Amino acid sequence: MREITKVEPFGTDIDLNAGVMKDPDVHILRRASDMRGYYQDGEALEELIRKEEDPVHYEVFEKDIPEEYGQLRFSVSKLQPGIIGEECFMTKGHYHSVAQTAEIYLCLRGEGYMVMKTLEGRSKVEPMTPERLLYVSPYWAHRSVNTGNEPLISLCIYPGEAGHNYGGIEKEGFLQRIYLRDGKVEIVKHKPSP
Ligand code: F6R
Ligand code: ZN
Repeated sequence: MREITKVEPFGTDIDLNAGVMKDPDVHILRRASDMRGYYQDGEALEELIRKEEDPVHYEVFEKDIPEEYGQLRFSVSKLQPGIIGEECFMTKGHYHSVAQTAEIYLCLRGEGYMVMKTLEGRSKVEPMTPERLLYVSPYWAHRSVNTGNEPLISLCIYPGEAGHNYGGIEKEGFLQRIYLRDGKVEIVKHKPSP
């Protein structure tokens, strides 16, 4: 049997409506300027950074649980609503560093989609609505996209050793982009540049 770090059982409070963990150990804040290179319309992103003084794009709240086999890590993810040009706000998206680890996303508030893909070129888009739970299978990169007009809030639970691999995503993107055009959501196939 593998030895793992002993962690005392604990409880923590989450404000489901505000989408915040009340006593996080880690608070990741991604601003619009952290999203350079991710959206189709780079000019529109620069304009947002200039005009709105680099607003918060999304936040992740976590407890400091050892990143090791046997533990479960969890986070509250809060993605702001909005568009860059016509493209809906989204998270960077990642594979797990230990690719054969899954993740559960429970959507708590807002509306949007989870865009997923594999290294073999498969892709899947799943709606995210309150009380809907998504199983993100091992090997699938995942990104959440907010198509609504309030924050998209989810609780994420994943194996301690999973880690994050952002590597190829910034360059290659995913296989779909999601736009809001004349008030309608459009999911468009995206051909990554060679
Ligand atoms: C953890 C996980 C979420 C995301 C969060 C932010 O494995 O999937 O906690 O980390 O939604 O997205 P990224 O990490 O892609 O910026
Ligand atoms: Zn993940």
